[in-house]
Amino acid sequence: MFVVMNRFKVKEGSETAFEEVWQNRESHLLGMKGFIEFKLLRGPFDEEDGFTLFASHTTWNTRADFEAWTKSEQFRKAHANAGKSKVDYLGHPQLETFDTVEGTFVAAAA
Ligand code: HEM
Repeated sequence: MFVVMNRFKVKEGSETAFEEVWQNRESHLLGMKGFIEFKLLRGPFDEEDGFTLFASHTTWNTRADFEAWTKSEQFRKAHANAGKSKVDYLGHPQLETFDTVEGTFVAAAA
């Protein structure tokens, strides 16, 4: 499996607006080849710099499945409005990708 995280530093006061963008979005992930799971994760609040860390977290069958999604019409549609909201960020999102070394799963991937 291949895991992709995009980390967002959301400035203090923008957290609710950020969560609402994700909760109210029209998702295009279900049915994409190799798509397994999506979560939006909220991490800790950073007192020093005044932001809350969030991560969008997806699991794919293979890296190739993830890369195909990033080139798809569904990816373009999902990001048509990204960056147009009132959310204040600290810097740009940071993408991190991971290959699975070992894992324990309830159900095996297709
Ligand atoms: C290759 C890089 C990126 C990956 C892997 C990624 C991942 C994702 C995923 C999995 C979704 C949900 C799609 C769906 O449910 O159909 C999404 C939506 C979104 N992404 Fe990204 N993203 C990337 C680049 C960016 C960038 C550069 C931004 C900067 C603003 C961004 C901001 C957002 C926002 C705000 C949404 C919610 C869409 C909406 O407005 O309804 N993403 N992204």
